[in-house]
Amino acid sequence: MWLSGLYDLMNSHNTKTISHSLVKWYHENGRDLPWRKTTDPYTIWISEIVLQQTTVRQGLEYYNRFIKAFPSVQHLAGADEDQVLKLWEGLGYYSRARNLHSAAQYLCNELGGQFPTSYKGLLELKGVGPYTAAAIASFAFNLSHVVVDGNVIRFISRQWGIEDAVDTAPVKKSIESIGAKLISYQKPSIFNQAIMEIGALCCTYKNPDCKNCPINSSCIAYKKNIVQNIPYKSKKIEKKNRFFYYFHIVDKSNNTIIHKRTSNDIWKGMYQFPIQEVDGFETSPTIDRFISDKSKYELYKSKIFKQTLTHQYIHAQFIKLLIDDEKTITKENEEFSVKAKDISKYAWPKIIDLYFKDLSITLF
Ligand code: ADE
Repeated sequence: MWLSGLYDLMNSHNTKTISHSLVKWYHENGRDLPWRKTTDPYTIWISEIVLQQTTVRQGLEYYNRFIKAFPSVQHLAGADEDQVLKLWEGLGYYSRARNLHSAAQYLCNELGGQFPTSYKGLLELKGVGPYTAAAIASFAFNLSHVVVDGNVIRFISRQWGIEDAVDTAPVKKSIESIGAKLISYQKPSIFNQAIMEIGALCCTYKNPDCKNCPINSSCIAYKKNIVQNIPYKSKKIEKKNRFFYYFHIVDKSNNTIIHKRTSNDIWKGMYQFPIQEVDGFETSPTIDRFISDKSKYELYKSKIFKQTLTHQYIHAQFIKLLIDDEKTITKENEEFSVKAKDISKYAWPKIIDLYFKDLSITLF
């Protein structure tokens, strides 16, 4: 059933012509980006993990800073995790940065600092899935493995008019097979850049530039006027709401109390103020622990900050407590005291960074 469907899909289009048109278009329109000028697997790997997090424009800044700080896999392996996370600050999905760090250590300790040169070998690296392995295999070693990211899924599903849900295994398989056929006519490294680039610049999610698409004449979604409906996804991610009180405690010597998140939850390895998670802000914050002299403190609260993650909505309110001396507080959860001027040396989740930038607090 699936195979005959795939056979029809393959035969509905001239894959050779499409493949050539893509590469021709790329040579004329592709962006000049640093990771496209190298075959070094290390820098390619970094660029691909950064680009899973953000746009090319923002990713360039992170990529350049990261490569400057850690020019080789040995530099990354020898770095402190805090330094790696600080450079990743703001990108989100901090497990990706921790995986980069631990894979770099594995590469240096177990593989003599050399990258595996096969797709299968690359898949063994922590944090490297089929997409990243295909990207490194093709860009660094010119192996014929098609990258199947969001851009590629969008381009192929529209071109072939695939209206079924792209987040199901058989449809994904069909898209991969079409991609494998397309790449077979070309130099793999160039083809993969080309197909991603058309998805990023022309066959975009919103407002695709179909009129100027070099392959619009064979695009079924364009012909049927259903470009905006494709790709279709069946699964909606259920997000849960979480409510955090953060206690920003400042004493007369400008010390504040922070700690590192260590549990297997969001933002592992990042720093934060003492926290109280509640079911909702109807529950009041518990401040007793921070106050020794009940008559001598000032209490402020921030507005509620919100951050949307892949699976969660985070709501955070900051309670600022001015006290005499933080030493009177019994520290919990590896909390420690830092000078206000040193706060920027630590890596903070975005929601705390938003608070640092805002600071419009009011009396509680
Ligand atoms: N997004 C993911 N990988 C990319 C690449 N190599 N070039 C441009 N955008 C990308």
